Amino acid sequence: MTRITHRNRRGFPMASALMDGNIPEKLTGDSTRGIVELDTEKWAIEGSSVETTLAEYYGAEVGGSQLSPPRDPAELRTRLRESAPRLAELTDHIRTQFDDGACGIFISKLGLAHLEVDQRRKAVFALAVMLGDVTETEPVDHRVVWDVRPQEAELRKFSMFSESDTEAAYHTDSTIVPIPERYFLLYAVQQAECGGGLSTLRDGRAVKEELEQTPDGRVALRVLTDTALPVRIPKAFRKKYGVTAKDGYSYVPVFAEKPMWRWRKDKIEQGLVAHPECATPEVRKALDTVADLLANRPGVRKPLPTDGIVIIDNHVAFHGRTAFTDLKRHLLRIRFQEPAA
Ligand SMILES: [Fe+2]
Repeated sequence: MTRITHRNRRGFPMASALMDGNIPEKLTGDSTRGIVELDTEKWAIEGSSVETTLAEYYGAEVGGSQLSPPRDPAELRTRLRESAPRLAELTDHIRTQFDDGACGIFISKLGLAHLEVDQRRKAVFALAVMLGDVTETEPVDHRVVWDVRPQEAELRKFSMFSESDTEAAYHTDSTIVPIPERYFLLYAVQQAECGGGLSTLRDGRAVKEELEQTPDGRVALRVLTDTALPVRIPKAFRKKYGVTAKDGYSYVPVFAEKPMWRWRKDKIEQGLVAHPECATPEVRKALDTVADLLANRPGVRKPLPTDGIVIIDNHVAFHGRTAFTDLKRHLLRIRFQEPAA
């Protein structure tokens, strides 16, 4: 992991390297290397400017939880940049870190803790809009901001991971989407106080490099590039994603260019059960090789503290979460693509 310790002329810090653990780089492929910790000064929150701009764009009554993707993302981005220049400076700095090769950026204190939850939704929404084109998180109300809170199993509507308190193993998000969102952010309204709910993160480029070092790893990469595997698209999304197969299955590679990794092991297994003809011995071995590497090497594993935020390159990084028991844990999640040219 990289910890940011220096300051540039604008007051935002620059990067320096910090490994998580004492594992020699040649053994690990340094799977924490693209992960950055921004020890930023508190963002002098321009919350009221953000709220005014969003009210002008969406209507005076709009709540942070109701915000939908803007009709014209570039226009809203421009308006927000004008009304919240310090936020623009922060997001420019985040962008620079990604351009320099970061795949995950932690900020331990964003400076929103004194605001009401819905104002915080609006602030992180504005931050995401400045970084990219936000996407809807569900197809019914088209909400962008998703409240990640544990729900009783029978009340879980959309996602097994974001509404559960169990471990979320390493995965990438939106694996059913033709081109998954390049980025997503998680903001902690309330971190788990039970010692669980830790964020886990791995640099997928380092995972690839480590696989390239062994014969089995090289075969796994080739098989998972050449073999598209079945993934079930939920009914509500089939038309949108152009899926015409009667059983709603689409076929995508696990390892490619954009995204580099499309890894949601439970969904892959579900697809192989429905289409056993795809579960060849070489596919099985390739999946096991990647899964073993993910399970047996350390990555970043740390709490996302209350008022902290992590922004992740979903095309490159694997992420997950440890189990927790504190049911007051509450995060906000927003996904976004790179801004359209
Ligand atoms: Fe996720």
